[in-house]
Amino acid sequence: MDLFVITGANRGIGLEIRKALLAQNKAVLSLSRSAGTATASFGPLDFRLGLDLASAEENPSRVLDWLREKDLSIKGLVNNAGLLLNRPADQITLEEMHQMWSVNVLGALRLTQGLLPFMVPGAHVLNIGSMGGFQGSRKYPGLSGYSASKAALANLTECWAEEWADRGIRVNCLALGAVQTDMLSSAFPNYIAPLSSIEMGEYIAHFLLEGHRFYNGKILPVSLSNPNSGDAL
Ligand SMILES: NC(=O)c1ccc[n+]([C@@H]2O[C@H](COP(=O)([O-])OP(=O)(O)OC[C@H]3O[C@@H](n4cnc5c(N)ncnc54)[C@H](OP(=O)(O)O)[C@@H]3O)[C@@H](O)[C@H]2O)c1
Repeated sequence: MDLFVITGANRGIGLEIRKALLAQNKAVLSLSRSAGTATASFGPLDFRLGLDLASAEENPSRVLDWLREKDLSIKGLVNNAGLLLNRPADQITLEEMHQMWSVNVLGALRLTQGLLPFMVPGAHVLNIGSMGGFQGSRKYPGLSGYSASKAALANLTECWAEEWADRGIRVNCLALGAVQTDMLSSAFPNYIAPLSSIEMGEYIAHFLLEGHRFYNGKILPVSLSNPNSGDAL
């Protein structure tokens, strides 16, 4: 059976990607710190495993053990989990930078490297970036550490697509604009996004299944708002 792996699929955009894939009878493995405990199951194709992406002890060994036991191969991976700390650029600490980078960049790197041997030719690795990490977009004050981490993830997308092309793996990055989720409302309590997590999750699920037929190594902005309006996340 082919499997789609999504990080951070217990809430927000990731949860809606997961639901949209399950609605199309795809098998999904959700990975997040609370995935194994705090979330309801949506049926026999809905697999969940608790994993802290930032932990070198857990990531990727815990997932690899699970995959070997189940004998499944991977058709798609969405590096969706993310951490955003809103801190002014002159005050952000190295510890806070490291916290974000260990989830948004290094956690995604470690997981993707680990899962590569389980991916079938034609698999799609989809990185969830941000307009903050999209070159040339106007940046939002307070998001320097987060935006730089998303720029790194976008750059890795181009590198991975090149290096893994001969394995038949395609890699893309969607640079999202604002979407109404916990992340957005805790960072910007008074801001209302033009898109819901359901709308964005359904679009990303569709792109995961179809986008790699048309794109490889691309960083694509998915944002209703003009980045220059200053509401890029
Ligand atoms: N919302 C927006 O406006 C917006 C805009 C641009 C880009 N994005 C990007 O879209 C993605 C989804 O964002 P969202 O708004 O849906 O976020 P969210 O509601 O805050 O959800 C974040 C998800 O990441 C997981 N996660 C966080 N730290 C983790 C860790 N150490 N290990 C494993 N999982 C971890 C969380 O699960 P646990 O807490 O259970 O671990 C949760 O499922 C992120 O990459 C974000 O940067 C969002």
